[in-house]
Amino acid sequence: MPRGFFITFEGLDGSGKSTQIKRLAAWFEKLHEAANTAAESWAEPPGRAPVVTRQPGGTEIGDRIRALALDSRGTRLAPMTEMALMFADRAQAIAEVIQPALDQGRIVICDRFTDSTEAYQGGGRELGSEIVLELHRLLCRDLQPDLTLMLLPPVEASLARAQRRNERSVAQNGRDEGRFEREEIEFHRRVLNKYREIAARERRRVVLIEGDGSIEEVHEGVVAAVAERLGIVAKK
Ligand code: TMP
Repeated sequence: MPRGFFITFEGLDGSGKSTQIKRLAAWFEKLHEAANTAAESWAEPPGRAPVVTRQPGGTEIGDRIRALALDSRGTRLAPMTEMALMFADRAQAIAEVIQPALDQGRIVICDRFTDSTEAYQGGGRELGSEIVLELHRLLCRDLQPDLTLMLLPPVEASLARAQRRNERSVAQNGRDEGRFEREEIEFHRRVLNKYREIAARERRRVVLIEGDGSIEEVHEGVVAAVAERLGIVAKK
């Protein structure tokens, strides 16, 4: 059985990842109508959607960890605890969702992965990259995405969008996930710089999409990168 294909999305809060993930998943579902695929290079049969998941969250245990890590009342979490929670969530997601799907040859799309820990805890909380990469090696058996789409619109615009979304969520269902959004702007600049550092180091894996493109423009960039890696040729 061929290994599936593992795609991750990364970016600042409010960078539009969720919208792009929905669009990409829908694109995959319709792919067989619209494309000739190099059969050996991707494995989803017609009409089957990719496996879509997110971190933190995506499993029952992960959802509990997410609530603990993102609730803005939980301000006393020490940076090391926060990082450990992110890896606990990830180890569970790999065991329960990601690795089994890849072993079945599925396409997996994950909203955030270890680059987020390197950017937020390594960069934002200033724990450094080394400890994050070491924990990834030990706890995640160094599982690497085949392709990472990194969305980096301007910091101020992303944050304003994320804050509006969180206010809506608090008003609608009382769920407050704003702990990171409430960090000062310097925190988010450190996150952004670390993301840029990762993109420069991981040139083969990471495709960087910068600037304030429209949803459609970003989607086109995402699809172009995915199609190129999977050897998918659009029908004329
Ligand atoms: P989301 O709203 O895009 O799902 O992101 C959840 C928040 O958790 C976001 O502010 C980034 C943060 N986060 C970390 O700090 N470290 C991590 O390893 C992950 C996966 C997320």
